[in-house]
Amino acid sequence: MKHYTNIFDLKNFDLTVSEALALKSDPRKFVELGKGKRIVMLFFNPSLRTRLSTEVAAANLGMDVTILNVGDSWSLEFEDGTVMNMDASEHVKEAARVISLYADIIGIRAFPGLKNKEEDRADKILQSFKTYADVPVISLEGSTGHPLQALADAMTITEYNSSFRPKVVLTWAPHPKPLPHAVPTSFIRAMSQMDVEFSITHPEGLALDPELTRGIHVSYDQESALQDADFVYAKNWATYEPYGQVADGFDNWMITKEKLDHAYLMHCLPVRRNVVVEDRVLDGSQSLVLSQSENRIYAVQQIIKNLLEE
Ligand code: CP
Repeated sequence: MKHYTNIFDLKNFDLTVSEALALKSDPRKFVELGKGKRIVMLFFNPSLRTRLSTEVAAANLGMDVTILNVGDSWSLEFEDGTVMNMDASEHVKEAARVISLYADIIGIRAFPGLKNKEEDRADKILQSFKTYADVPVISLEGSTGHPLQALADAMTITEYNSSFRPKVVLTWAPHPKPLPHAVPTSFIRAMSQMDVEFSITHPEGLALDPELTRGIHVSYDQESALQDADFVYAKNWATYEPYGQVADGFDNWMITKEKLDHAYLMHCLPVRRNVVVEDRVLDGSQSLVLSQSENRIYAVQQIIKNLLEE
């Protein structure tokens, strides 16, 4: 594995999940591995879990951490051959190579604009760093995926599963803002690597990229889709067609205790209480959201370990 920007970059999915889970019982076992090494993380968008879990994981491996909150303050040029006489003051070719002089691994978080589907599919910032960096690049959530979250989610299902072949349902849930497709995309890819009975439920008009969902059972009837589920993953996403719109009028898609029945509730966080999931669920024993967040440490720690060893 040269970079980790897609869950399909993993050479052995099951082994990665089990090794990541094993790190939980002895997090500092490999503290010598990262000594003298540094991870530089660039955040073009905010984060609580990804930033802190990666810092903890790097410390567990003995690494140093440098974080740059890029925000809107640093305008980069990405196009080849551009005459740079406008706002952008630095080309990604220099930026990625310079950071590679300071870092052994680069982490990038860069959300989609949700205005132009083709631009978002290109995942320009992440892909440019992959192209020009001289060191491995990890996605800390890009336009098209959140593979660290998906690995932590797979770990969580593995930990809590007590069925031979658990029923896992990804359900769309309401949200007042348009949200990216990164988390559901990576979760769907992760489920394709696990021995689970997987399905998706969403209101009509909220289909994801058909290439992504090809061969997966999709239902517009949330109530019947959730019946007998073992794991329910609640997540909002903006419309795919037309692209990037908020879907109004589906408040009744919020996850309630009645809908959940005996299933575990999963969500990547942050979650809007009583919009996406009701309090009774999030405060109850069926919620796995904190376990998912805890597993974020060991997911990224395993990825960093693999990249350092390779
Ligand atoms: N789930 C997740 O990636 O959380 P943050 O946006 O806080 O990093």
